[in-house]
Amino acid sequence: MNRTPAKHFAPLAIGAPEPFRQLPVRLERMLHFVPPHIDKIRARVGELIPQVDVVLGNLEDAIPADAKEAARAGFIAMAQTHEFGATGLWTRINALNSPWALADILEIVPAVGAKLDVVMLPKVEGPWDIHYLDQLLAQLEARHGLPKPILIHAILETAEGVNNVESIAAASPRMHGMSLGPADLAASRGMKTTRVGGGHPAYGVLADPGSDGSPRAFVQQDLWHYTLARMVDACLAHGLKPFYGPFGDFADPAACEAQFRNAFLHGCAGAWTLHPSQIEIAKRVFSLDPAEVAFAKRILEAMPDGSGAVMIDGKMQDDATWKQAKVILDLARLVAARDPERKGLYGLPGA
Ligand code: GLV
Ligand code: MG
Repeated sequence: MNRTPAKHFAPLAIGAPEPFRQLPVRLERMLHFVPPHIDKIRARVGELIPQVDVVLGNLEDAIPADAKEAARAGFIAMAQTHEFGATGLWTRINALNSPWALADILEIVPAVGAKLDVVMLPKVEGPWDIHYLDQLLAQLEARHGLPKPILIHAILETAEGVNNVESIAAASPRMHGMSLGPADLAASRGMKTTRVGGGHPAYGVLADPGSDGSPRAFVQQDLWHYTLARMVDACLAHGLKPFYGPFGDFADPAACEAQFRNAFLHGCAGAWTLHPSQIEIAKRVFSLDPAEVAFAKRILEAMPDGSGAVMIDGKMQDDATWKQAKVILDLARLVAARDPERKGLYGLPGA
């Protein structure tokens, strides 16, 4: 159950900032994961900030149990040391049923809450997980006089979470979006793959036998299509942003790019980058092809009031394609505002 419409946007603690009515508009093509307990990596965060849209200090999986406290302290130090400007600052805290989650929240929010944009919450099973964190964040925001609400981003990575995806999206105006977590989700569902995201060579469709006995084509399918589609619909229906999660095979940039592109075409705003080599891939995929932007511009120019029907290069355009073109140009403008090189390629006036 959620609060009534009348109460939906009321702060959950006296003195906490008002929830956003609409998400702040931000470019988040890649959520770049940093292990904050490693000094050498932390030392390079200053160089990283201008290269990525979001820096995320990871405290959960991949951080060894004996380094959890060092990672938390490292994240706080990293947040205190740097100015992030237009780059987002996020953290992935430990799961709510772990021994570390409460201290993650209780230490990070008072220390650097004013700089923190989003808390990524792993292994979200249902709206109750969001309600718990929502209330706690409101209490801490009130207590520490934070000026703006810290948002929550859920990882969709359990069978129960996928079942409850819509109620998770609807749980709070503090929701920012969701990421698909293919590794945990595969384990939770009993999928027979040890890969972190991407396809599987055995998951596909075999073409019917031909009459000439020629070899039958086997076409690999996308293991994540169903979940991604559910997540995209749940997010967009609630004004949230969907993201593809991790792609673990760093030695296969082509497959990473293909998986990211499927997510992008499907409606996702970005993906996780776990390795520096994936940053350029995410930038390329989630930034739009200049030819697509040029065509979208032609649609808008041909239909100044967004209604009616026209033909462009033999293709029918109408009110619906005008809206499709607007999605493309809104994103192009957002990219152009942050990326001077692409601004030139898109031929957009001053962003
Ligand atoms: C990410 O957290 C995943 O489990 O894939
Ligand atoms: Mg996971």
